[in-house]
Amino acid sequence: MEDLVQFPRPLAAKEKKQQVLEIFERYKKDPHYLLPLLNDIQQNIGYISTEVLHLASDHFGIPLGRVYSVATFSKQFKFSPPGKYVIEVCSGAGCKVKDGTDILAVLEAELGIKAGQTTQNGLFTLFQRSCIDACALAPAIRVNGHLYGKLEPKDVLKIIKEYEIML
Ligand code: FES
Repeated sequence: MEDLVQFPRPLAAKEKKQQVLEIFERYKKDPHYLLPLLNDIQQNIGYISTEVLHLASDHFGIPLGRVYSVATFSKQFKFSPPGKYVIEVCSGAGCKVKDGTDILAVLEAELGIKAGQTTQNGLFTLFQRSCIDACALAPAIRVNGHLYGKLEPKDVLKIIKEYEIML
């Protein structure tokens, strides 16, 4: 198992709010920018809160219902905060073919959730990705951006236990 990148510092609520406001400042008050803004929020904050929907309605001067329609039309947006630890599992050919290990299945069984879901204790959210740009380290996963490669099932279980202990 290779452990390559430093664990990013999680954002506090105040910092998160500041980051949301900074993202809004990047976009002109033109409704054409609604979707790019929502994408930006999703990428950087991890989900679209009710507060963001209201802010977007005010920012672009359009009805809240229209903002909601645009946001819910796309399956890519999440409307609840992700778990404390976001696990991205590569299910690309490079990672699957390597040794036939199905890391996603191991994680789903261990956490009791499917890809796209969050554990009941709010600790882990699991996402399936087509590639996480670490093909040379296949099979690989990221946890809050921290890359783990050349994994075996026992490594995955060890990683989960380490994050549980960090509580
Ligand atoms: S195919 Fe798995 S990281 Fe690229």
